[in-house]
Amino acid sequence: MTTSSDPAARPIGIFDSGIGGLTVARAVAQRLPHERLVYFGDTAHLPYGEKSTAAIQAYSVKICDVLLRQNCKLILIACNSASAAAYELVREYVGSKAIVIGMIDPVVSYVGQHYAGRPVGLIGTKQTVGSNIYRKKIDQLDLGVDLHALATPLLVPMIEEGFFNGRVSEEIIRAYLAHDELQHIESLVLACTHFPLIKPQIEDYYQGRVAVLDPSDVVAATVAEALAARQLLAPAGGVGPAHHFYVSDFTRSFEESTRIFFGQEVQLEHYPLWE
Ligand code: DGL
Repeated sequence: MTTSSDPAARPIGIFDSGIGGLTVARAVAQRLPHERLVYFGDTAHLPYGEKSTAAIQAYSVKICDVLLRQNCKLILIACNSASAAAYELVREYVGSKAIVIGMIDPVVSYVGQHYAGRPVGLIGTKQTVGSNIYRKKIDQLDLGVDLHALATPLLVPMIEEGFFNGRVSEEIIRAYLAHDELQHIESLVLACTHFPLIKPQIEDYYQGRVAVLDPSDVVAATVAEALAARQLLAPAGGVGPAHHFYVSDFTRSFEESTRIFFGQEVQLEHYPLWE
């Protein structure tokens, strides 16, 4: 366990079903370069998008134990599926030990601010879209946002397999975006942390007709605000922070893909959730 007398020097914990959340970790590292990150990718249980709510809740609580043992001051659920299934439970479980931030609330408030009275599309996993959580929260704003959500389950395995800038992925992306549900939208929310990797292809499809929203920066800004509000921003100075990246099941191919997701070399350590 890491201990420090300065609570602001404690790390930020980030988790996802795998390496998709590294797109959010990268945005956090860019916005808050002095923060030390502890990343947990639950690769043993990927994909979360196809799992039951109860299973995702059990994995999430177990991961929070790991992150709390690392003395994290904030836990960021960098996975829409886990945010949909387990955010409330994780908040209750973590209590006052750490701040908890999920993917959904920051995006809902961004959409409310920028797209009141307008049609907005959203793509995500079966868990995220099936939970209806974005619709419920957006409707609660009562700002007339007209949400059109579509589950796009082939996209995560496609990206995991490295198909994200060729003919195969182009065809699959085109087939989903041409779906009736996503016609006449003004913006499209990428409600899965894997999808920023195919943002260029989605933008190519729309040719500027639809604004494609990668929520990573919005969520990273929420993390920065939450820490600043509690005087918990890491002090500047010294050499760059040493981040730690754990996965519950290690494969060489994951290690190779992490560079693409995080934008720089990352060394994964194996940390089984259940011994
Ligand atoms: N990255 C996860 C999300 O944002 C999806 C990946 C998965 O299905 O495990 O929902």
